[in-house]
Amino acid sequence: MTEPLLEVRDLKVYFSVYRGFVQRLLGGGDAKVHAVDGVSFSIAQGEVFGLVGESGCGKTTIAKTLVGLVRASSGKILFRGEDVTRPDRKGLFRVRERIQLIYQDPQAALSPAMTVGEAVADVLRAHGLPTDKGDRVHAESEAEIRAAVYGIFDDVGLRPPAFYYDKYPDELSGGQKQRVVAGRVLGLRPQLIVADEPVAMLDMSVRARMLEFLMELKARHHLTYLFITHDLATAKFVCDRIGIMYLGRIVEVGPARTIYADPKHPYTRALLQAIPIPDPSRRSAKVLPKGEVPNAVWPPGGCRFHPRCPSALPTCGWEGRDVIALLEERWLSIELAAREGIAGPIEAWEADGLIARRDMGTTDPHAVAALIRTIIDQSGGPMAQAVRDIRVEGTTVIVEFRAPEPLVPKEVEGRVVECLLY
Ligand SMILES: Nc1ncnc2c1ncn2[C@@H]1O[C@H](COP(=O)(O)OP(=O)(O)OP(=O)(O)O)[C@@H](O)[C@H]1O
Ligand code: SF4
Ligand SMILES: [Mg+2]
Repeated sequence: MTEPLLEVRDLKVYFSVYRGFVQRLLGGGDAKVHAVDGVSFSIAQGEVFGLVGESGCGKTTIAKTLVGLVRASSGKILFRGEDVTRPDRKGLFRVRERIQLIYQDPQAALSPAMTVGEAVADVLRAHGLPTDKGDRVHAESEAEIRAAVYGIFDDVGLRPPAFYYDKYPDELSGGQKQRVVAGRVLGLRPQLIVADEPVAMLDMSVRARMLEFLMELKARHHLTYLFITHDLATAKFVCDRIGIMYLGRIVEVGPARTIYADPKHPYTRALLQAIPIPDPSRRSAKVLPKGEVPNAVWPPGGCRFHPRCPSALPTCGWEGRDVIALLEERWLSIELAAREGIAGPIEAWEADGLIARRDMGTTDPHAVAALIRTIIDQSGGPMAQAVRDIRVEGTTVIVEFRAPEPLVPKEVEGRVVECLLY
C-alpha cells in the first residue's frame, strides 16, 4: 500500500477553560474542553475525505491543528510520513504551503481594505510563484505577479480577471468571494486543501455550483481534500470516504457509499434519518435522538453517545450523572415532583464518576433509596440493568453503577465502527 498523504494518529486537542466558569460548572477540579479526544484517520493522495458531525464535535479544531493554528495536546500528524505535529516557525511556513485551509466565511478570510487582486498578489509575493516543476521562484516584476493573479482568477472563473482585480471584497457576492479565497489557496499549489464548511454561508442557490467548482478544481489540479461539513447530504455528494464524529471522536469511518447504504453506528443512523428527503411519500422524521449534545468539558463516560443512544446497552457507560438527569427529566412534571418530593431537590444530588449520592440529613435515607430504586426500574431502559447497587451509608443515599465495557474500534463490513453492539 502506498504511503498516505496525511496521517493523523490518536490526536488529542484539549483547551483549558477559565476557572471561574469551570468552578461554577463542576465545582472545581481539572477542567478542559475535550475538543478532539483520540482521533485517527488517513487521507490518500487524490482522495476527498469527509469529517461529518454536529456542531461542537471538533471538526474545526482538527482543521486548525492540521495547519498549525492550534497546538495538538498529544498524538501525531504525518504529512507524507514527515512529522508536522508541532512545527517550528520555519516548519509552519512550509506546512502552510502544502496544507491550505478554506474557511466557512470568505468575508472573514479577506481584508475589507485590500482589493481581491492584491490579496492574491500578496501571497505570491510572500511565497513566490509556483513553477511547473513544483518549486517556487521569486517574481521578477510586479507585472509578472499581476499576470499570475490574472491566470489564477481565470482558473477560478473570475472572468475577465482585470475586471475583478481591483474590486474590494464588499463589491463581490459570497460565491465570488469564495472563488477569490480558492484562488489565493491555489496560488500556493497546496497538496492538501482543508475545506471547513466551504459552502455553509453561501446562498442556497449557489451552493451546488460551488461544490461542483471545488470538485472541478480538484480534478484539474490533482488535489486532495479534507472536507468538513455538518451536512451528510453534502458529504455524500463530494466525499470518497467519510468519518462520522461525535464529541471529539470518530465513531464510524469508511467508504462513503458503504456508510450511506448501510450505516452501522447508531449515531450515524440517527444522522442519516435526520436528512430531509425530498420525496414526500418517503418523508422521515427529522429528529435526532433525545437530548442535547453533552458538554465537551465533561464528556459522558463509556460511549459518549450513550445518554442519547436508542440502542444503548447496560454496559455502554452509565454513571452517576445519568441518574440525576433521569430525576431532573422526571421532576419536570409537577405531579411527579410533588409525589417524589422527599428525594429532591435536584441540586442536592451530586455525581462523581460511577456514583450519584445525596446526603438526606434528617429525612429517612432508606425510604429515599427505595424510591430511587423504583424510579430507576420504572425508567425501563438499559440504565436500570447497569446499577450495581443502591445503598445507604450513614445519612447518605448512594447509587453506584458497574464499570462500562471498554470501547474498541472494530472492523465491521468494510468500515470501522466504535460501538459495543459489534
Ligand atoms: N479556543 C478554544 N477554547 C476553548 N474551547 C474551544 C476553543 N475552540 C473550540 N473550543 C470548543 O471545542 C469544541 C469543538 O469545537 P469546534 O469548533 O472544533 O467544533 P465544530 O465541530 O467545528 O463545530 P461547528 O460545526 O459548530 O463549526 C467545542 O466544544 C468548542 O466550544
Ligand atoms: S456503544 Fe453503541 S450501543 Fe452503546 S451507547 Fe454507544 S452507540 Fe449506543
Ligand atoms: Mg466548525
